[in-house]
Amino acid sequence: MDVHRAEIDAFLAGSTKQPEAVLMAESAEGKAIGFVELSLRSYAEGCDTSPVAYLEGWFVENAYRRRGIGGALVEAAEDWGRRQGCTEFASDAPASNDTSRVSHLGLGFEEAGLIRCFRKSL
Ligand SMILES: CC(C)(COP(=O)(O)OP(=O)(O)OC[C@H]1O[C@@H](n2cnc3c(N)ncnc32)[C@H](O)[C@@H]1OP(=O)(O)O)[C@@H](O)C(=O)NCCC(=O)NCCS
Repeated sequence: MDVHRAEIDAFLAGSTKQPEAVLMAESAEGKAIGFVELSLRSYAEGCDTSPVAYLEGWFVENAYRRRGIGGALVEAAEDWGRRQGCTEFASDAPASNDTSRVSHLGLGFEEAGLIRCFRKSL
């Protein structure tokens, strides 16, 4: 939570390059209920163009899901990508996140592959 707060503060202060844009969804009462975090990536799996508009983060509060809010956020994100001159939009999700998978597919994404990630300390 503290890490997230620090990241939000840095974004609002303009002192971070990532994400490049954050779009928020608000309830009728003005409560923040969802967001997308967006970036431009020079390469994205399965894409032929560069840069690619990229969905870095995507969240809707549990009580507001399945009402089209996630879809509306993705649509606004696609408009953002077009305004950046992109012709492709990409995203990823942990292999275990079935809701994310069906949501992406339901909104017109196609699966571009499954990758295994590795790390080591330097
Ligand atoms: C993924 C998420 C943002 C979707 O938000 P949402 O507001 O529920 O999305 P929508 O209501 O616009 O749904 C869009 C489409 O996705 C599909 N979908 C979404 N949730 C689904 C579910 N639980 N089961 C089956 N299909 C689902 C449907 O095709 C749906 O269209 P429909 O309702 O017309 O059938 C939301 O579930 C969420 O915040 N999940 C937790 C965070 C997360 O996993 N984010 C993705 C990280 S990779």
